[in-house]
Amino acid sequence: MIMKQIADWTISENTQLSADFCLLKVHLENELPKIRPGQFVQIRVPNASNTFLRRPISIHFVDYDRRELWLLVQMVGEGTRKLSKMRVGESLNIIYPLGNGFTLPERNCHCGLDPQSPEKETNVVQHNNITQHSNAKQGIAGQARNDDGNDDGNGNDNDSFLPQTGGQFLLIGGGAGTAPLLYLGKQLRDLGYQPTFLLGGRTQYQLLQLSEFEKYGNVYTTTEDGSHGEKGFVTNHSIMQTYFSSIRLYRYEMQKHFDKIQMYSNPLSHPSPSTLHPTIYVCGPKPMMLAVAKLAKQNDVSCEVSLENRMACGIGTCLCCVEKTTFGNTCVCTAGPVFNINQLTWQI
Ligand SMILES: Cc1cc2nc3c(=O)[nH]c(=O)nc-3n(C[C@H](O)[C@H](O)[C@H](O)COP(=O)(O)OP(=O)(O)OC[C@H]3O[C@@H](n4cnc5c(N)ncnc54)[C@H](O)[C@@H]3O)c2cc1C
Ligand code: FES
Repeated sequence: MIMKQIADWTISENTQLSADFCLLKVHLENELPKIRPGQFVQIRVPNASNTFLRRPISIHFVDYDRRELWLLVQMVGEGTRKLSKMRVGESLNIIYPLGNGFTLPERNCHCGLDPQSPEKETNVVQHNNITQHSNAKQGIAGQARNDDGNDDGNGNDNDSFLPQTGGQFLLIGGGAGTAPLLYLGKQLRDLGYQPTFLLGGRTQYQLLQLSEFEKYGNVYTTTEDGSHGEKGFVTNHSIMQTYFSSIRLYRYEMQKHFDKIQMYSNPLSHPSPSTLHPTIYVCGPKPMMLAVAKLAKQNDVSCEVSLENRMACGIGTCLCCVEKTTFGNTCVCTAGPVFNINQLTWQI
């Protein structure tokens, strides 16, 4: 377990990204602890008599070399407005890192197993009794080859499941809820995956840091007014359909492959149809998270949501952030803010 710490951080950058959002970068003299994506900090707002309680803000990005945390702040009230006016060199008292983060997959092994031709299998690598094959690095989405295992006529020669969405991990964020997804995307990329980001906002001015997200995966956008990306909500974006249909296709192809190799050899040395674990990670307004969670459940895809319940202490003592879960009433600040949807009692 990572110990919570409290320290004065120095503001190293404060950039106004739009009328409502700013990006604060804060620097620490000491070495940063290991921080997991999805964790958050509690910030004391200086010189503000009405904002006695600390404000919870997600960790947007961690730059270990520069000993910097990035915080994406939406100005909604007095506390966040005060934070947005802080100047470089000023100090912020922060408790960090708080809560639990998103679940990360095992490192992608990029081993070389031809899924269509078991007899051509070259090199199967076993990790913790889980075997993966080379297409994991390509992501799950794409077109399957013809039954003969050759080119499907579209020039797709050796990859059975070419990426259309870019990977098995779909990261969906709305407004300030996009904040924790940047560091999550970086971590997934470092583990050998290519995440897909689907970012939504009311207008283009709520779509932030797009060039940063693009460093780690494919980025798709929606806006309610159609000013950027597809018009509508994230759940209406065409990439959702592509993602779910490619998962169905992947599962079908893997089942076929699995049935085939069982006829040839010891099935234990081959991947099972459930070798890959597509996951949707969501953070944003609750109606958006509910809608995504519903789709994930219908399509039998794992889904983790990051809740933003109102918080006071942030460390599990005041009980003001309680959420009903399958294991009882739970403090979001300590047991969350990230939960698997199966742990929540949402009616989806
Ligand atoms: C775990 C967690 C992570 C968060 N991460 C971020 C982040 O990365 N960036 C960011 O901009 N905001 C984030 N928030 C929300 C942020 O904490 C609140 O917007 C902030 O505390 C508001 O403080 P204020 O003094 O500006 O507004 P207040 O004057 O306290 O409130 C102004 C308005 O904001 C609403 N509000 C306050 N807190 C919340 C909340 N938790 N959720 C929804 N609405 C709220 C109030 O209902 C009110 O309408 C996060 C919240 C949590 C619990
Ligand atoms: S905010 Fe106090 S218990 Fe969670």
